[in-house]
Order: sequence, then C-alpha cells, then structure tokens
Amino acid sequence: MEHISAVEGITPLDPDELAGLRHPHVTTRGQLDHLEQANIQEGLKWLQRRRNRNDVLQERFVRELHKKLFGEVWSWAGTFRTTEKNIGIDPRQIAVQLRLLLGDATYWIEKKTYDPKEIALRLHHRLVYIHPFPNGNGRHARIMADTVLTEVLRQEPINWNSGHTPQEMNVHRAAYITALRQADQGDYMPLRVFVGLER
Ligand SMILES: Nc1ncnc2c1ncn2[C@@H]1O[C@H](COP(=O)(O)OP(=O)(O)OP(=O)(O)O)[C@@H](O)[C@H]1O
Ligand SMILES: [Mg+2]
Repeated sequence: MEHISAVEGITPLDPDELAGLRHPHVTTRGQLDHLEQANIQEGLKWLQRRRNRNDVLQERFVRELHKKLFGEVWSWAGTFRTTEKNIGIDPRQIAVQLRLLLGDATYWIEKKTYDPKEIALRLHHRLVYIHPFPNGNGRHARIMADTVLTEVLRQEPINWNSGHTPQEMNVHRAAYITALRQADQGDYMPLRVFVGLER
C-alpha cells in the first residue's frame, strides 16, 4: 500500500512519523527543505561549539547529532526507526549493526586499515546502509563522516558536491547513489571517484 504523505515528494514516512512534524502548516517539499536546512545550520553550530569531543564514535553521539540537526522539525529526531523502509536494514537490527559499525570504524582508525578518507567513506556508506532514522540519513551520515575526518583523523572534510552547481545536482546525485550501490558490492572505488580521490 502507498504511504499517504502530507508533504509531497518526501522519503515515504509512516503516518506516525509524519505526525512528528513540529510544523503542521507545512505542505510542500520546499517549505520542509527550508525548515530542515535552518535546523541543520543550528545543529552545525552546536557541533562546532560542543565541549566533549571524545565521543564521536559512540551511539549516543550519533543519535544526539541527528537530534541537533533535525530535532526542531521532527519530534522523532535522534531516535531509531521502528518501521521498514525501501532503503536500510530490518529496524530490529539497527542498534546491533550500528554498534558493530562504530567498533569497526574505531578499529580502522587505530590500525590505519584504510587511508583516512576511505575510513570516512566506509563509515558513511555503512551508516546510510543501516539507515538508522526515519529520514535525514544522507545528510546526517555525510556530517558524521566529516566529523570523524576532521576531529578524529585531522583531515579536511569531504567535498560532497565537488563544485557542482545546483543544476547539475540531479546528475551528481545519481552518480552518488550509483557509487553507494557499488559500495554495497564491496567496491569503494566509485565512491572514491565520486568525492574526487581518484580520477
Ligand atoms: N538506493 C538508494 N536510493 C536513495 N538513497 C540511498 C540509496 N542507498 C542509500 N541511500 C542513502 O540514503 C540517503 C537518503 O535517505 P534519507 O532520505 O533518510 O536521507 P536525507 O538526508 O533525507 O536525504 P538526502 O541525502 O537526499 O538529503 C541518500 O542520501 C543516500 O545516502
Ligand atoms: Mg530524505
């Protein structure tokens, strides 16, 4: 059955999830994008000014970051999804798989298993594969990857839209999704190409 979405064009959200919209007057995707973008700006300010920076690879931080980025718009921000989506694992596996991922990432960093950018890309890919939250996973996981890269690995952040104009973004997004699908098969090269690490 089709999900009835009050907001046209959004990632399909359950009625319960849609009920979590803190701005009931919103009816278009443009309005929602605008509110979310403003919330993300505030969340990024929190990210910059917070004191404790030793917890980036802990579940509590992953959830808190999502809450800071989306909590003004969605009441469920920072809480794991309980419903199935067309992307992402079985919701009952989220907590366990996230814990495994954070453990793996900690290990990759300690053992220098991959170069720093690839560690961030692998974290990003597995995080969106798990798809912990009802929505906002792509944006949250890009910010997570950059936070690990800049704060833990002391590198420059990833250039996620590598100079693409908004007009080119659809093509660029298609390339991004294709690269994620190839990463599902264990091939991270397309994702490396996508962020400009390879030609
Ligand atoms: N097959 C796929 N199609 C679309 N997105 C995918 C797919 N596989 C993984 N993803 C990831 O899921 C994200 C979309 O999930 P979600 O809508 O929760 O995030 P978002 O932050 O709202 O989206 P966006 O990244 O478009 O801003 C994509 O950005 C991408 O990172
Ligand atoms: Mg979305």
